[in-house]
Amino acid sequence: MAASYDVVAIRSDLPALRDVTYLNFGTEGVMAESVLAKYFEVLGRFERYGHYERMRIVEHMQACRERVGKIVKAYASEVSITRNGTDGVSIVLGSFPFQEGDELLIGGEEHPAIVYPAFALQKTRGVIVRRFPFHHDPSQTLRAFAAALTPKTRFVAFSHVSCETGIRNPAKAIISIAHARGVPVLLDGAQTIGCLDIDFPDLGADFLTGSAHKWLCGPKGTGILVIRTDKLDSLTPAYVGGGSFAEGFPWDKLGEPASVTFEWAPGAARFEYGMRNPATYAGLNFAIDHLDSLGWKSIHSHQRSMTEDLKRRLGAVPGIRIQTPMSWSDSSPIVNVAVEGVRGRDVSQKLWNDYAIVQRAVRDPDGVRISTGYCTTTADHDRLIQALTVIARTN
Ligand SMILES: Cc1ncc(COP(=O)(O)O)c(C=O)c1O
Repeated sequence: MAASYDVVAIRSDLPALRDVTYLNFGTEGVMAESVLAKYFEVLGRFERYGHYERMRIVEHMQACRERVGKIVKAYASEVSITRNGTDGVSIVLGSFPFQEGDELLIGGEEHPAIVYPAFALQKTRGVIVRRFPFHHDPSQTLRAFAAALTPKTRFVAFSHVSCETGIRNPAKAIISIAHARGVPVLLDGAQTIGCLDIDFPDLGADFLTGSAHKWLCGPKGTGILVIRTDKLDSLTPAYVGGGSFAEGFPWDKLGEPASVTFEWAPGAARFEYGMRNPATYAGLNFAIDHLDSLGWKSIHSHQRSMTEDLKRRLGAVPGIRIQTPMSWSDSSPIVNVAVEGVRGRDVSQKLWNDYAIVQRAVRDPDGVRISTGYCTTTADHDRLIQALTVIARTN
């Protein structure tokens, strides 16, 4: 970590963290006051002046695609700003030309963001959903994945990092196996974008989705969809509106829409149809600029060293079980921890109610999920470990 990474200074811009111990960047991040002030300024002016202001701030939209593209090493034209992580998955799965009987292979630890759109396809379009398990050992995951592919597999969608265990999957190898069979892949990066270094071209995924309100600490209700340039036209947008087409209004007043040849708008922004609030794009730009100014390498190494330290310390507490791989290359800043004999839901409630420690319960494997952010300190982890020790002892 760079010597200049000053977490005390970083937290002085996050005064709310004096009230709570915040360990849930995997659900929603927290916005720094300096970012919030700029975001509110733009939002306030837009709300007050309406379309007059929109003309002044509209360039934030393209600037946002550029910033997000830079983070994942994609072209801005490959980036669409969505409303959340689920939105991107739903857009891709809903727009892909599945036929009845096609198989959609998804991971075994998926968020409803993948599970629900997948099962909706099963129910409404006769797509067969199959699953492959995630293992702590990546070579086992690879074997399980290869074994689950069949001649009918038409599409693969899985999480780079599991939101349940924090397992980091061997995404590049999985994608390359799928591609060798001619099967396109959606990589869910909700738990990677902003907390691990992501190289979209190197990973090779056809589609990458994620949330911008988690690790990037952008405005709540912002998400990311990245589509490889050569895959753009493999989707027939299921949802369209203003912004979807190259021409704003491609027929004259009396023409019949059906007789017109539509041309999709260039780039992934074709999926940002209808009214989008440019102030949220501005807010995301400010959030990214803030993290950028701290340095991505420093942020990632802070999160890594803090997470490794947490695991080491938790491992020494009697009655506590870590349900996340210990090796960094197979894990992430997410740690699933269980207290022997106490349901995750109950541990989570106690941490929340008695200690104001913000985290989340996980159902399978039963435990609580801790996510270490760019501003987490050893003192945050001290409070967590003390609380878990008491819960384990008094159980
Ligand atoms: C792996 C994963 N995918 C997708 C999502 C959904 O993201 P959003 O809440 O932005 O729709 C989440 C949210 O927690 C997640 O953990």
